[in-house]
Amino acid sequence: MASVLSQLMGQWIDVQGLLIFLCVLLLVKHLRDVQSKNMPPGPFPLPIIGNLINIGFRDPLGSFQRIAERYGDVSTLYMGNQPCIMLTGYESFKEAFVEQADIFTDRPHFPVNDKLTKGKGLFMSNGHMWRQQRRFALATLKYFGVGKKTLENFILQECCCLCDSVQTEQGLPFDPQCLVTSAVANIISGLVFGHRFEYDDHQFHLMQKYVDDMLQLPISNWGRLYNQFPALMSLLPGQHQTAFAGMYKLQPLLQEEFRKHKEERDPSNPRDYIDCYLDEIEKCKDSEAEFTEENLMYCVVDLFGAGTETSSTTLRWALLFMVKYPDVQEKVQSEIDQVIGQTRQLQMDDRTNLPYTYAVIHEIQRFANIITFTPPRVANKDTTVRGQLIPKGVMVLPLLKTILQDKNEYSTPYEFNPAHFLDENGMFLKKDTFIPFSIGKRMCPGEQLARMELFLFFTSLMQRFTFLPLDGQTLSLKGSISVSSGPEPFQICAVPR
Ligand code: HEM
Repeated sequence: MASVLSQLMGQWIDVQGLLIFLCVLLLVKHLRDVQSKNMPPGPFPLPIIGNLINIGFRDPLGSFQRIAERYGDVSTLYMGNQPCIMLTGYESFKEAFVEQADIFTDRPHFPVNDKLTKGKGLFMSNGHMWRQQRRFALATLKYFGVGKKTLENFILQECCCLCDSVQTEQGLPFDPQCLVTSAVANIISGLVFGHRFEYDDHQFHLMQKYVDDMLQLPISNWGRLYNQFPALMSLLPGQHQTAFAGMYKLQPLLQEEFRKHKEERDPSNPRDYIDCYLDEIEKCKDSEAEFTEENLMYCVVDLFGAGTETSSTTLRWALLFMVKYPDVQEKVQSEIDQVIGQTRQLQMDDRTNLPYTYAVIHEIQRFANIITFTPPRVANKDTTVRGQLIPKGVMVLPLLKTILQDKNEYSTPYEFNPAHFLDENGMFLKKDTFIPFSIGKRMCPGEQLARMELFLFFTSLMQRFTFLPLDGQTLSLKGSISVSSGPEPFQICAVPR
């Protein structure tokens, strides 16, 4: 018996010894791999899990910021075995996305995006196709009046609808999310579909939900798991399946819009983006530009999604900040009263005479900082930024938050303070480093539209209502981790002025 035991023990020690030896070997190999890549500095990654422990699940953004503070404007993190380079600070953004614009235009490939949009559309597409689709989208937005009076009047009509709906709440507590999102979605709907929807339209809400689920997936934990194990995850239930199903359910709704457009359109008089795109499908001889009905669908999803979520989230923050900082709300209202009064309809030109209101809108965007993760990029050849090597093909994650909270630019970066955008004479102070829409060739194509929306919606609401908290309520300023980081759901009262 004793000899059998000692034999088994001997074998066990052998197996144990072998395992330890293999682990040490793996660690040495991993160490050599990490060192040989000559990546920018960062916390040491463990084999297989990379820097998961450094990032954590609770506050990934806070962790990224701490890592950037420690290792500088260009640092490396490992997501599993994959390195990822974080860019922070205005100078590194400028050096990469403006000075080396042609090297940094592409987005990396992710299985989850391939599954959702097959690499088409505007947001995650690349190369010649992306360039042509983006050029066309920008030209069409311009054609339909972005920055011009026609679109301004269309937005002002929607401002009236929104204010009338807020009025029906009769000063009682309500959650502004649904009304604000629908009002903003109607602007991009007008440009893309040629019509608006009623705020209680069931199909409109379904469309918003499907698009929202799709947009949220890539940065959710489900999306991250799908990117790591696509084959396995496609067999398992979860939030990713809801988003994929949403995309399938959205298709017939959009195809119905395309069908109606084809029936009713007059090629000499296009009414909206879809009409122009259908025209381009017929005219374009460049097959690599991929002007197809399938691509139209993904472009519409991107425009509708990006054009709704971002501006409406900013406006919800705006209302929350006004309730939280009543002295700022009072100053905005008194400036509006002096310049426009309470009855005349405002216009874009009023902006120059409303420096405080304009500074408040900028501070809302800065402090809300809704694009916590700017969509990632990838370099198409080896290059350097701030003296650090960025190898071809490695994912580059730009962190806008650090730029909007730069201590050298803003006297109180972690406080809501409209004075950040005012000079000593109380006039609006423009800052080149204020880049909530990013910079370079891939910067937001909806910037001008979004600026119009934010000014007209915010000022209209301030002109007609005073927003108040509920009795005894403490409103949280904590943002969610999402494509655009919004406030937690909240209720407020809108008292007509
Ligand atoms: C407050 C509102 C908005 C903010 C803060 C915002 C911000 C951004 C940012 C930071 C990016 C990423 C740029 C990059 O990768 O460097 C982006 C991309 C994009 N945005 Fe916006 N955006 C807003 C509104 C809009 C609107 C109204 C539209 C609709 C036309 C829109 C359409 C897009 C599209 C299609 C992209 C992808 C562009 C590409 O990859 O080429 N955005 N936006």
